[in-house]
Amino acid sequence: MPDGSHGSGRSHWGSRFGFILAASGSAVGLGNIWKFPYITGEYGGGAFVLVYLGCVLLVGLPLMYSELIIGRRAGKDVLGAMRKLTSHCGDMGKDLSGFAGMMGIASGFLILSFYSVVGGWAIHFFWVSLDLIPMAQGGADETFGALAGSWKVSTLWHTVFMALVISVVARGVHDGIERVCSRLMPALIGILLILLVYVGFTGGLGASLAFLFRPDFSKLSGEGALEALGHAFFTLSLGMGAMVTYGSYLKSDTFVVRDGVWIAALDTIIALLAGTVIFAVVFAAGMEPGAGPGLVFVTLPDLFAQMPGGQAVGIGFFLLLIFAAWSSAISLLEVVLAYFVDEHGLSRGRGALLIGGAIWLIGVGSAVWSQVFDFLDGLTTNYMLPLGGMIIAIAAGWLIKPEDRVAGFTRTGGAGAFLATAWLVVIRFVTPVLVLAVILYKMEIIRFE
Ligand code: PFF
Repeated sequence: MPDGSHGSGRSHWGSRFGFILAASGSAVGLGNIWKFPYITGEYGGGAFVLVYLGCVLLVGLPLMYSELIIGRRAGKDVLGAMRKLTSHCGDMGKDLSGFAGMMGIASGFLILSFYSVVGGWAIHFFWVSLDLIPMAQGGADETFGALAGSWKVSTLWHTVFMALVISVVARGVHDGIERVCSRLMPALIGILLILLVYVGFTGGLGASLAFLFRPDFSKLSGEGALEALGHAFFTLSLGMGAMVTYGSYLKSDTFVVRDGVWIAALDTIIALLAGTVIFAVVFAAGMEPGAGPGLVFVTLPDLFAQMPGGQAVGIGFFLLLIFAAWSSAISLLEVVLAYFVDEHGLSRGRGALLIGGAIWLIGVGSAVWSQVFDFLDGLTTNYMLPLGGMIIAIAAGWLIKPEDRVAGFTRTGGAGAFLATAWLVVIRFVTPVLVLAVILYKMEIIRFE
């Protein structure tokens, strides 16, 4: 019997807590530790953070709930679930849902291919902080340049990272994913808290908090607002069925709403804590916050090197980055694998190896050519995830049956009915419109001069 299957043939999470850790492990990733701080830096700090929080509430949470309930009610992979819950609809509804399901699987495949390359860079810098790989003469900038510029080294670490991901997913939902995430997430939070205490002593904490939490609306742009919305998707792992897939391994749907709040809250808190730590280090060194994508790999390692006890901090930080990337990458592979297991009867172990191997191969393309990396990153995060999210919102709000729709609100007490109505209004009218705005902006149809 497969692990945790309880005789039904399908795997389940061992506990609700395990599910919340696995799902927040999916959400907390490079998006939180690498991307959120640098886009916050680029878009001016506090006001951007406030808009981002609004996006998590207005778009992220309603979509999170939609994905969880679709997965839970259907008990299937993303494509199977979308098809099952819209099987009573007309051709157009069914085709639209099927399209979103297929695009979700393709997104998981493509995102993991380049995500793994970045995960590999984190492993490289972990070795650098251990002094087992020497830092280049010219510091982190040169070290990173040599790493990203060498397809052999990048491919080596990409291979190590993919092997880590495959080995967990192959062991199953309960024995693999849940068990590993139940260790990674507490470790990650522990490291983050230690780093927070550390920056409390080394200075920069006040400036960092002021930068993140004191909004200056004159710095906010329409562009920043749409970037915040797009990021809310990526960081919460929405739009490609990761939460559909994880939700499908739940045993009961009665508390799905509350679980969604937990996942979104953990993701947001961890992003804010990571931002607090990173900007404290940056401000303590008198640097500017808008360093862009190189913030984590280029700016920080040099700053760590100048700080008291900086080596331990560097080790902790890159371990944190590896843990975050690893638990997210696991969910990316699981979305694709669940499809082949559920719909084509592939065995989990063989499937993980075969699909992981194929993803690895595409990833080598990203390790060799930065254009491939940029293209896949832009295609998936700018278009595929928002489009997938828009269709999932339409399916949850308009297409699926009312009894499927309200299932997760049933044990939330008297407020349940009110919440269900509020959610329905948002998912029907607000979420699709906002997501469409992001897509049009990314296509440069909406512009901000
Ligand atoms: N949420 C992850 C991050 O913030 O890094 C990325 C991600 C994982 C996106 C899984 C989508 C997904 F299905």
